Amino acid sequence: MLQSISNKHDVHHERRRKNSLASLTSSLRDNKTHLLLAASGSVATIKLPLIIQKLAADYQRLHPNTSADSGLSIRVVLTPSASRFLAGQSHEQPPVSSLLDMACVDGVYVDADEWKEPWKRGDAILHIELRRWAHLLAIAPLSANTMAKLANGMADGLLTSVVRAWDAWGDLDGDVAAVVGGGARHRLVDGSERPRRRKRVLVAPAMNTAMWRHPVTARHLGVLEGQWGVYGSKSGGKKGEEQEEEGEQLERRDGDNAEVAENENADGWFEVLQPKSKALACGDVGDGAMMEWTNIVAVIEERLGFGQ
Ligand SMILES: Cc1cc2nc3c(=O)[nH]c(=O)nc-3n(C[C@H](O)[C@H](O)[C@H](O)COP(=O)(O)O)c2cc1C
Repeated sequence: MLQSISNKHDVHHERRRKNSLASLTSSLRDNKTHLLLAASGSVATIKLPLIIQKLAADYQRLHPNTSADSGLSIRVVLTPSASRFLAGQSHEQPPVSSLLDMACVDGVYVDADEWKEPWKRGDAILHIELRRWAHLLAIAPLSANTMAKLANGMADGLLTSVVRAWDAWGDLDGDVAAVVGGGARHRLVDGSERPRRRKRVLVAPAMNTAMWRHPVTARHLGVLEGQWGVYGSKSGGKKGEEQEEEGEQLERRDGDNAEVAENENADGWFEVLQPKSKALACGDVGDGAMMEWTNIVAVIEERLGFGQ
């Protein structure tokens, strides 16, 4: 009995330690591969534990000489609606807190974590630290609601704040970031060049067919793919020509170290993993279902350079 209370206490203590801001800030340069994995409120959130499990297993298979925990670090962000799908209501829907016990998971965050301690000057800020820490952000699933927020620059929760604070130009996180997803170069006004270190955001939309086909979705995709998107991503996405035109129109703001944008989108930072068509959980049949989760894992692994 006492042993069981003590074990529960240990588990609780370990979860608190892992999720602390201090643990996050001290791991910025721990030489692990950092995946920030998020979910917003779609039924496909129930695939999140499977995605985590496979990433850890694949990492272990590809790196048999190190434990997966010492090479791959995953931190999870959930919107309030996403948390509703992981409340221990079925075998495939374990409670949110249990994700922290999975291999490679070093943090699980919800909106309340931003405000856990009353902030004072000098304190770290969770959404900024998560952005700094991440080598790649993958949002799977991306709900219609969060898609709309991202496309419109809203930042009313932890996940949307991370994306709103993303280092879209690759200016800020270069010292921490692995160069993920291409090695394009900035051309400075003096003609010299330096590598651009833009980190990517991968999103896997998942929604009802009518939501997916709604005209406003095309508007949001126009921003995520057309303006911020990566050319020629293997996942499909918008037609190259359309993106190219929009990419060439982008203008880089001029500042003290003004840089000339030459075709800014050539290594954009946003990648939309196209949904598939199937019989949806709600009974409708059609497109809008999240890309097969195993394919999402494959894209994440490719972008993170697993196995290299
Ligand atoms: C059972 C249930 C399933 C839902 N499935 C989806 C879905 O697959 N995709 C989606 O975009 N919204 C879905 N919704 C609606 C979202 O959860 C809702 O729009 C919510 O506000 C999304 O919040 P978030 O984007 O902050 O996570 C579902 C709602 C419920 C109650």
